[in-house]
Amino acid sequence: MTTEKTWRIAVLPGDGIGPEVVQQAVRALDALAASDSDLAIEYDRFDWPSHAWHQKHGESAPSDYLERLGEYDAILLGALGDPGPTSDPDRYLLSDADSLAPLLDIRKGFDQWVCERPVRPLEGAPQYLADPRARDIDMLVIRENSEGEYVNQGGRLAVGTENELATQVAVFTHRATDRIIRHAFVQARSRAAARTDVGNEREFGAEKKRSQVCLVTKRNAQRFWGDMYTEIFARIAQDYPDVATHHELVDAACMKFVTHPWQFDVVVASNLHGDILTDLAAVLNGGMGVSPSANLNPTDRSRPPMFEPTHGSAPDIAGQNLAGPAAMLLTTAMMLDWMGEEDPAAARAGVRLRESVARDLAAHGRESRPTNVVGDAVIGALA
Ligand code: IPM
Ligand code: MN
Repeated sequence: MTTEKTWRIAVLPGDGIGPEVVQQAVRALDALAASDSDLAIEYDRFDWPSHAWHQKHGESAPSDYLERLGEYDAILLGALGDPGPTSDPDRYLLSDADSLAPLLDIRKGFDQWVCERPVRPLEGAPQYLADPRARDIDMLVIRENSEGEYVNQGGRLAVGTENELATQVAVFTHRATDRIIRHAFVQARSRAAARTDVGNEREFGAEKKRSQVCLVTKRNAQRFWGDMYTEIFARIAQDYPDVATHHELVDAACMKFVTHPWQFDVVVASNLHGDILTDLAAVLNGGMGVSPSANLNPTDRSRPPMFEPTHGSAPDIAGQNLAGPAAMLLTTAMMLDWMGEEDPAAARAGVRLRESVARDLAAHGRESRPTNVVGDAVIGALA
């Protein structure tokens, strides 16, 4: 008797390099499923949200698109934004806020309240820091993904006059703060357990604890939410006496991500701070070309998570078969990990895909190769 689940994935290639890198991700999923009869994945591919859809229909996606996506187990998205190539002056352009809006609507619509962006440089990926310890960086940046600075509340008065005034309100609730900080502690604990399994333990703080959560705020200047985060963090930390705690102001965190990033383990930050820190963290990984990302709702698996690389549409190289697909493939591995929490075949596939990308980077990371050539190598090595 077979009990495996058939996973239903909504594939959204999006704009720019999105379709090129997503094509490699779909090929990888096909190859993984073809070589493991226990892994069953079906997907539907949509040409929205995208600039092309907007050009045709006056909106980025059909009005019921969130309802339609809600029927899937997960969403795999390439990139949104300027479709490129920049050599085409007549390409259809939208304001950044309009072209990226679906990303934020999907995160909010399915209450994907965690954004996880792991930082673990792979051999062969560009290394921007000269210090050899940069090879040992292993951190997970956890970004609050449902509120904070991204609530889109505010407005402009007296537009275009000398009296013009703009407000942009940030909202921090106890509920969202509690759940994101708790999630950070849960992840710290499970990372420590995973390190113990492979005999690679780390120590943090005077008490030599095996994992750490670093809270990031700007409480010296923005005390209301900063103090609330700090108090809730201290309360939750009592439930995790085995996890070391730490706090950094966001500006100092930026500095330390450059001077000694290997000292961090789990980092938890607000929506905007997490956004900024994860571009910096992507550089520690070797750049946007190798930096995966996941938007999750850990408490409600009935709502689809969204897996999208940290990179954007890269309009300067779009449509030229030049984009590196590693970030998209590592993002796909994160999707398989998430599926793997229920399905051992998906868990195995996630490990295989990540290892194949890592081997390819180690062997060829310094060469510049066309998108499909990287895809062929990674996928060929899966068989
Ligand atoms: C990201 C992006 C988005 C964000 C933009 C495109 C709205 O920068 O996923 O990090 O700020 O969340
Ligand atoms: Mn960003």
